[in-house]
Order: sequence, then structure tokens, then C-alpha cells
Amino acid sequence: MPLRPVAALAAACTLALLGPSAAAAVALTPLPQSVRESEGSLALPGRFAIAWTGCREPMLERAAERFQRDLGRLTGVETFAAAGPRLEIACAAADPGALSLEAREAYRLQVTGEGVKLDADGPIGVLRGLATLRQLIETGPDGAAALPAVAIDDRPRFAWRGVTIDTARHFMSIETLRRQIDAMEQVKLNVLHLHLSDNEAFRVESRRYPRLHEVAGHGQFYTQAQIRDLIAYAADRGVRVVPEFDVPGHARAMTLAYPELASNPAGAPAAGAQVLNPASEAAYRFVTRLFDEMAGLFPDAYFHIGGDEVGDDAWAGDPQVEALMKTEGLTTKAQVEAHFHRRIHQALTRRGKIVVGWEEIIDTGTLPRDIVVQAWRTSNATARATALGHRTIVSAGYYLDLLNTAQFHYGFDPLDTSAAGMSPADADAARKLHPLVGRFVTDGVVVQPMAPLTPEQEALVLGGEAPIWAELVTDEMLDNRLWPRAAALAERFWSPREVRDTGDMYARLAVQQDRLRRLGLQDQAARARMASRLAPGASEPLLVLLDLVGPVRNMAHDKRVPAAIAGKKIVQNLTAMADAAPVDSLAARAFLARAERAASGEAAARAAVRADFEVWNANHRRVVAIAQDHPAVREALPISADIAEMAAVGLLALDALETGKPLAPETAARAKVVLDRADAFEAASARPIFSFFGKRPPADLIIMVTPGVRRLVEAAGG
Ligand code: ACM
Repeated sequence: MPLRPVAALAAACTLALLGPSAAAAVALTPLPQSVRESEGSLALPGRFAIAWTGCREPMLERAAERFQRDLGRLTGVETFAAAGPRLEIACAAADPGALSLEAREAYRLQVTGEGVKLDADGPIGVLRGLATLRQLIETGPDGAAALPAVAIDDRPRFAWRGVTIDTARHFMSIETLRRQIDAMEQVKLNVLHLHLSDNEAFRVESRRYPRLHEVAGHGQFYTQAQIRDLIAYAADRGVRVVPEFDVPGHARAMTLAYPELASNPAGAPAAGAQVLNPASEAAYRFVTRLFDEMAGLFPDAYFHIGGDEVGDDAWAGDPQVEALMKTEGLTTKAQVEAHFHRRIHQALTRRGKIVVGWEEIIDTGTLPRDIVVQAWRTSNATARATALGHRTIVSAGYYLDLLNTAQFHYGFDPLDTSAAGMSPADADAARKLHPLVGRFVTDGVVVQPMAPLTPEQEALVLGGEAPIWAELVTDEMLDNRLWPRAAALAERFWSPREVRDTGDMYARLAVQQDRLRRLGLQDQAARARMASRLAPGASEPLLVLLDLVGPVRNMAHDKRVPAAIAGKKIVQNLTAMADAAPVDSLAARAFLARAERAASGEAAARAAVRADFEVWNANHRRVVAIAQDHPAVREALPISADIAEMAAVGLLALDALETGKPLAPETAARAKVVLDRADAFEAASARPIFSFFGKRPPADLIIMVTPGVRRLVEAAGG
């Protein structure tokens, strides 16, 4: 697929296409700083003959071996034992900071008809260059592999480019984590932040406090040997592993294992309390010794202590905490938290670690400036943290568990101070929705217009992290829930700020997602497995349907929330159509692009869209047939029926476009009914909080192809 992202880069980069006949297609994600294509290409009949100059180390030998292996996976050609062209790798210098923010990641790549030169600032730069080189490989019509002649000069915009994976709400197996690391390497993400403890579970073997994994691991935890292996695996791919053990809130797993650590307001049971006791020397001894053990296990310089969401009444009425407040002169809950964090910070700093905490950690503005803040509720937090002099990682706008589109997340720049968060008007309206909601709609979630960051503040923004909280994500679902959207964010964190063309991003993302699949990503396999559970032996029509839909957004699919509001506790199995559906179907995106071209008059696109509509129509009849025997499919029937209706009006719109006769008013009215219904369902879950109270579509499914059908209907005069 020839993609030439000139428009996206024209403003900032030196991408130039030399000659219209360049056979090459450049579909790179993330887009490099500079790409120059030229005439010609390099045939790749076999493995590269690698010649090294400069630093060379075992990590690079292993990287080169993996790269050679991947050539076979990417091309499907089995002759990769044969001698191929020359790849000269020049690694400028060994890098003592390879797994730090100072890592030398810059590289230059030159592909000519003679061979490839990869010139890197350091070993991590070699990994980044090899990742790009994999993306340059193309297969010609005869199945032969080749690379376009190209010169690339590349370096990251931000040093911290991560994902946060929640292993507490659902356990993620080592195998699954390794697959995510593999994919991260391919799109140059470099931090795997593991959220390892929460109310639901504690996931790491502790020798000092074994009840943590024995009792609170609920049978699923990582042994220390597994953690060491995983860290080494990630290091080989230029990925740092940053552990998070959340304190003092989100700590029910800890108090389940060791009830004496809990705050114990009068009468409340200690075991299973969510918050540690900030007035207890035993609690400090526990946290300090546990973190000392974990600091030894996780070699990264950064250690995340959580610090988020301590409830307003966490310590209310606790006589010990009241006494602490009196002796220390603390008057607010935030000051008590700061007191707690200061002690933990002292212990970890002595241990040589740099503390990271979620944004609430700076509520008092009094903590040491060397603490790194992770902004998550609003973009304002980035401004606030950097104004106080804290280095900051931006996660506001990047919550992948909220099931928004790649385009939505991609639109937030880490340096934009006013982008992500709830508007003041929405906050006022949300507070009126239900008495319980006020607790969540605090000032902290409301985004206000703010002045841009100063250059000094910008320099404190380390980068971004995309969290995937796992309340609604099982091990089996992780590949689907992270990718391809994490790759779009990899581009936001790596590429120049001016790279913002979403159509171009999606076109490249589709190619990159297929590369990730060839290298081992299991998103399609997992989706097929989930569909096969819903309709054993007859799941193929479900896969066609799943490509056209997505799950409702912003946790609207979390049935535990309405149950909790009604005072009930339920278990939700994540086995429904909405769990199997891709969040941002690339097949649906491709349809939208086709529909746009068809509406603009492109004959080939019209033919392709006609074929799409015929498939949707026929597929609905197949879904109806399997629903008879498979009750789990039945709830999705109205959605499948609406897609068939869209196909029917879409075909009439195509007829109208082709004959030049406007759409009949009754057809336009019919189209409006189905398209407006789909839009209303989509809008109902578009905003957090409101999403819980909106009208949910059948099977919790949004129809993702709606805008393309609407575009055609409108083009046809409907
Ligand atoms: C968070 O999402 N509570 C950091």
C-alpha cells in the first residue's frame, strides 16, 4: 500500500519524494523525524550479511539474531538462510545510560541498491533503527522481499514513552506481557509500567511478606525469578520496567494479607480496608521493608508508589490519625498523605530510587521536587506539576481502558495544558445525575483553560504513558485492548508535534498492525477464540460483524457500576460480543476512507463500497441464522439489523450517486432513522460519568461504520 505521508510532515520535516516512480512505500509508525525516499530499491533475497563497527555487545548480537528471524516472519519467505545484502551497523559508543532517560536512541538509516547502513548513537539506537528497518520491508507481486531506497534521520521527541498495564484487576501472564514488550519494541515504546498491587490483588512474590502473594495474589502472581526474566527480556528490547505498588490507597490486598496495616476508624473492620494507616509505625516499617525488597528486584531508577485516590473519609474518625495530625500540625487529609509520602520518599531515596506518584501526590505542593508526577485526570495537572518544578509524565487523555478511538487519544499533545479532562459545564451537569456521582466529580477531574507551558516547564515533561486499567480486560483481551491504539500513541510520544494527520495515521496504523501480527501479536487469534465461544462451529459471521462495531465507551460496559449504584455486587464475565469487539476497528476505518473516496466520485471506491454493503447485508442473514442456536448472539441482532439497514440505504445512495438522481425523500428519511439511532447510542457513552446513565445500545455495541454511510447518503442528496 503506497503511503507517502508528505502532507503530515510538510510543516516540520524534511520528507521528500524524489521521483514519482519510486517503487517504495513508506508506512512507518511512528513517523521518523526525517525520511527521504529516492529512486530504486534493495532486493532482499535472504538474510542480511551484518558487518559491525563500533560498540558491540551480547544484547546487540541477540537483537541482530531476532531481526534476522523476523525477516522470515515478515516476508513469509523461507530462504532466509541464504546470503542477502550487506547491513553495516555502526554503533557510535557504548551507553552506560542505555536503560535510562539519557539512552542514546538516535539513529540514521540509509538504504541504497547496494545495501543498508545503520548508524546509531548507541546500542538502543541500533534497536530503534532495526525496528524501522523491519517496517521498510515490502513484498513485491512475485513474493520477493525488497526495501525502498531511503535515508532516514530519527530521534525521539520524548525520552519516556510508556504503557501502564494493570496486572491487579486481571492477572496478565508472563507470555502475554512478553508479547506486549515485543510490540512495544516495534513502535519504539520504551517504558513498561506495571501496576502490581491494588485493592484486588498483590502480584509479586515477596520473601519478606509472603502473605502478600500467598493470600492476596489469589493464586496468580509473578515469582521473583519470573520478574527478573521479564526485566531482562524487556531490557533486550530497550524497554524499562517501572514497578508500581500503590500506597496508601488502593491497598486492600495489603490489608487483606496484613490487617494490622490498615487504618481503623472506629468500628470499621481492618482486614480489607482500602487505605494504610499513616499513623502506624508498623505500616511504615512494612512499606519501607517491602519497597526495599522490591527496589532490589526491579533495577530501574524509577519506583512508582501510586498515591492516587485516597477517599475523603479514608481516615475520618481514626483516633490514631487524629493524634498524628495533632502532633504533626496537619490539618487536612492531603497534608496527612504528604506526611506519609515524605517518609516513603526518604526511604526510597536512601535506597537510590527516584519516586514516581500519581498527580494527587502534589496536592499540598510541599513534597520534594525530585518526585516525578504522573498527570492523569486532566492536562491541567501537567501545568501544575511542572510549575512546582516536578518532572512529569502525561497520562491525561491517554487512558486506553476508556475505549476511545486512536484518533481521540492521538489528538492530545503531552504539552497541551488544557486538553484532557471534564469541562466545567459537564461537571455541573454530571453532579446532578446521581447523589453518588458528586464524590467522583471533584475539582480535580475538571479541566480549566490554562496558559501554555513555559519553556522551563516544557523541559520538565518527560513524555507520556498510556494506561490500560484491567477491570474490563482479561489476559486474553490485552492484545486487542492495547493495539493498535498504543501504536498511535507511540507516534504521539516519538514523532514531531506537527505529525497530526489522522487519516494518514490510520492508513499507516493498519499496515503496522498487520506487521505486529506477523511478529506474534494475538489480537485476531484472541478475537476469533472469543467469537468461537459465542457460536461454536459457526463464528465466522460474528467476526464479520465484529469488524464493523466497537464496545460502548467510558466503562459504560461495566455492569458492576449500575449494580453497585443499586446496592448490589455482581460478577461480570468478560465473554460478551462487546468484549470481543475491537475498540477502533481498522476494517471499519478502512471502510470510512473508502466511503469518503466513493462520495467524492472515485469509481473504484464506489465499487468496493458496493461490495461492502452486499457483504453486510448477507452477513446479517447469517447472524440471524446462528442466533437461533446461540443465545449469546441474540442480543446483538438489533445491531446487526441496523448495519443491514445501513447497507440497504447505502446501496440506494450509491445508485443515486451513479445515476445523478438525488435520493428519494422516503429513502433519506429511512436513512436518517437508522443513522440517528446509531449516533445517539454512540453519543450516550461519549463522556465519562454520563456514560453510566445514558441509553445503552443492544449488546453494548457501537456501530463504527455509521459516519461513512452518512457521508454517502449526504453526498447523494439525502
Ligand atoms: C488512576 O487512574 N487512579 C491513577
